[in-house]
Amino acid sequence: MAQEEGGSLSEVRARVGASHGITDLGHKLHFYDRWAPDYDQDVAALQYRAPRLAVDCLTQALPGPPHAALILDVACGTGLVAAELQARGFLQLHGVDGSPGMLERARARGLYQNLSLCVLGQEPLPSSEGTFDAVLMVGALSDGQVPCSAIPELLRVTKPGGLVCLTTRTNPSNLHYKEALEATLDRLEQAGAWERLVAWPVDRGNWPHPSLRWCPELLTAMGSSLASSTCTESRRGPRWRE
Ligand SMILES: C[S@@+](CC[C@H](N)C(=O)[O-])C[C@H]1O[C@@H](n2cnc3c(N)ncnc32)[C@H](O)[C@@H]1O
Repeated sequence: MAQEEGGSLSEVRARVGASHGITDLGHKLHFYDRWAPDYDQDVAALQYRAPRLAVDCLTQALPGPPHAALILDVACGTGLVAAELQARGFLQLHGVDGSPGMLERARARGLYQNLSLCVLGQEPLPSSEGTFDAVLMVGALSDGQVPCSAIPELLRVTKPGGLVCLTTRTNPSNLHYKEALEATLDRLEQAGAWERLVAWPVDRGNWPHPSLRWCPELLTAMGSSLASSTCTESRRGPRWRE
């Protein structure tokens, strides 16, 4: 059914492959605008599991009942992460995305209390410091999407001691970005800005990066080290289990 509506599996693969090849953010967001009506059925055909795995990761790490947690879903797309969150009892959901077309789909899902248009890397998140118990970003950390330099903005809006859960792709076309992300996270951890809690690799496709606990008292050090483009390279190797 999904394949009949959204095209054959090979067409879906071609469409997703094309999206991975777009490295200009403006073009990528336009691509998502056009893809929005077919996105859910296309990724279902490809057995896209990142939203479920990320929410598994969050559920295990989050102290306290899910209904009490205020969650921000960054690059929320059509709201697949919200659907997983709601199924686990998370009820207070906010979302942001840079594609109006994807946001329209997310709004139609009716699961978010608040949705905003926001292009990460170009503008700040529309929230005050320390607002959210947890911040997730699923499927948007790659070239042409959310730059690694936007990670501190996720930390800014996370409550002291809150959680950040990220996913990135491990396939060859994303290796360069993944290494840059790992280096960014490593530098942040060395700066004491957050603590790595879980590394949860998945055999293919997206995998939830660690959930990370933010140490707010070190925000200034973390912010200043990342505001500069001259961050020293980490002397430690990546510490992900793969
Ligand atoms: C592959 S979709 C993932 C959507 C959703 N998180 C999911 O897992 O189904 C990537 C989403 O990231 C959004 N996006 C990409 N780059 C962005 C940026 N710099 N700022 C905001 N949103 C961005 C796109 O508009 C798109 O909705």
